[in-house]
Amino acid sequence: MKLVHTASELNLLVAEAKAEGKRVAFVPTMGALHEGHLRLVDLALEQADFAVVSIFVNPLQFGEGEDFDRYPRTLEADCEALEARNCDVVFAPSAAEVYPPDGTPGKATERAGIIGATFEGAARPGHFDGMLTVVGRLLQLVDPDVAIFGQKDAQQVFMVRKLIGAKFKDVELVVAPTVREQSGLALSSRNRYLTPSQRETAVVISKALRAVDFAAKHGLPASFCIEAGNTLFAGEPEAKLEYLAVVDPQLFKPVTDKFKGEALVIVAAEVGGVRLIDNQTIEIREQDA
Ligand code: PAJ
Repeated sequence: MKLVHTASELNLLVAEAKAEGKRVAFVPTMGALHEGHLRLVDLALEQADFAVVSIFVNPLQFGEGEDFDRYPRTLEADCEALEARNCDVVFAPSAAEVYPPDGTPGKATERAGIIGATFEGAARPGHFDGMLTVVGRLLQLVDPDVAIFGQKDAQQVFMVRKLIGAKFKDVELVVAPTVREQSGLALSSRNRYLTPSQRETAVVISKALRAVDFAAKHGLPASFCIEAGNTLFAGEPEAKLEYLAVVDPQLFKPVTDKFKGEALVIVAAEVGGVRLIDNQTIEIREQDA
């Protein structure tokens, strides 16, 4: 495995791999890697012959007062974990490499549009513009055949799908399922901010998703399903629910009670000052007779 910090070193390695006829997969991350990220690398190597992982804590996608400064930076441990998963290249650029002063300026150049201002975008103004800008830039630099993203960040996947469809038509997007702890808590780099008791509290998030799923399986319409999830949060005051919604996966807009078919439950909650997000696909069917 090679660790490189510049685009020119990266380009050379990718060009070599392509010259050998290898299919190149790309997994963008912000580091502080956990099993969820590492499964993306496993999937990358199932889909392709050469895996590039980027580690870059992107300043553009953090708002004022967010955790950019304290976001965990653990490059050495990340590289060890990636090596053990047979990653080929780790690309850990500086901000100047990603946003050169004479090229992409240090501000967002992609626009996430209306959906980018809802849910995560409403809570974190500018987040999706910044995320799309860096993903676009990284896709240019890596030039992969396939890009792997985690379903854990469902709205991110929705936005990236649009970006790839519009600007990177040759790149295949593969979405990996969410990796969870046994408790149900979705793995996240931010979980390390939680105390053991807050971690227990945070389990309400995945429990609420399961409650929504359970209600849907019993033929209840969307608003009743959401109520089932809300009830769990009502019993866990240490977790502050920010939103719990059922959206149409094609539009990322809340569904009405008439909606039938595959839907996405999305949730954000704050536990001990840490914002956590999760989601689950459900099937809303005709009401039981
Ligand atoms: P980061 O939060 O580091 O996540 C990198 C990738 O890992 C994302 O595609 C994310 O959805 C996926 N991931 C995180 N937790 C996961 C889990 N429990 N199971 C499966 N996949 C999981 O998302 C970002 O970084 C950034 O926005 C980035 C795309 C790198 C752009 O800066």
